[in-house]
Amino acid sequence: MKWKNQIVNLHAYQPGKSIDEVKKMYNLKEIFKLASNENPYGFSEKVKKVLEEDATSTFSYYPDGYATNLREEAAKFLGVKPTQLIFSNGTDELLQIISKALLEPGKNTVMACPTFSQYKHNAIMEGAEVREIPLVDGNHDLDNMLKALDHQTAIVWLCSPNNPTGTYITNDKLMNFLQQVPKDILIVLDEAYYEYVDADDYYDALSLIDKYPNLIVTRTFSKIYGLASFRVGYGIASEEIISALEPVRQPFNTNVLAQKVASEALKDQEFVSQCAALNKKELERYYDFCQKHNLHYYQSQGNFILIDFQCDGDDVFTFLLSKGYIVRSGKQLGFPTSIRVTIGTSEQNSGVIDAMKAFLEKQAIKN
Ligand SMILES: Cc1ncc(COP(=O)(O)O)c(C=O)c1O
Repeated sequence: MKWKNQIVNLHAYQPGKSIDEVKKMYNLKEIFKLASNENPYGFSEKVKKVLEEDATSTFSYYPDGYATNLREEAAKFLGVKPTQLIFSNGTDELLQIISKALLEPGKNTVMACPTFSQYKHNAIMEGAEVREIPLVDGNHDLDNMLKALDHQTAIVWLCSPNNPTGTYITNDKLMNFLQQVPKDILIVLDEAYYEYVDADDYYDALSLIDKYPNLIVTRTFSKIYGLASFRVGYGIASEEIISALEPVRQPFNTNVLAQKVASEALKDQEFVSQCAALNKKELERYYDFCQKHNLHYYQSQGNFILIDFQCDGDDVFTFLLSKGYIVRSGKQLGFPTSIRVTIGTSEQNSGVIDAMKAFLEKQAIKN
């Protein structure tokens, strides 16, 4: 078989153990998944209603490939033209569409490291050179990212808030960066956790789109909207960028129910604000825990926290798993002595914090 050289060493996405497997393994009644930054409060009641009412929908037809209703709702909500939007099967697919449209052997792409894994994965698939610029204190090193750009650079990726650190790019730093990136390089600003942000010096990405026709902002319904399993992401950019990307998108990439629930979810901004407020309050409990136990962490503008236990992250992960909490070991995220925990409900967080305390006590006895 004539596989592309670049995919030979790529690994398939490794799904974690299923909830049933973990239950059986540790003889547990209840398992909490706090590994993929989903919304622990579920989704809006308005969405529930649509799902109940829509049980008799005709699924034998293809969905509206242009997602017209969702597009109109989103355009209204965001204050942009419908033609400035592209919808995708999760942001994951949009990141892939962007890579397919711009990357190929001979070109390069610049990103922070560690950051969201799919930027690199897609670039490798397209055979482009990947230039990873280490984070400094958990933050994008924008000066060195600028220095890494050259005539062959096609895309520069910004993740703000950054997964897995939760850190964000400030308004001043972003402005300075945008002004210096050559106009023929696409800047992708991934704002998957945008709705959680409350930092005063955060920028308003949408207001930058007119000024920077080489900027695309990506957002998702998978995080605060609580619709991860429906797979809806979207991009907001100039009409020129959108019309260049559209032919790369599969014609029916978002399904009929997904389009419906996403447009309904947008109408319940009260749910969004409530989730953001609860997340903030619960994050504080993790900060307190880390401070009390002298554990390094990053202040997070997302719904997750990266905590450094100064030991093998897999050991912390396995211990928490045995107590019924599935988190992410930092080993797969570029922080081998850390874990990343999605902020859960108050009850779940109490459980994780107790389990982390128990881990530290066990470590203390061992040492
Ligand atoms: C920074 C970032 N971008 C994009 C995604 C992908 O989200 P989606 O579910 O929309 O594909 C994630 C998911 O974890 C993420 O953390």
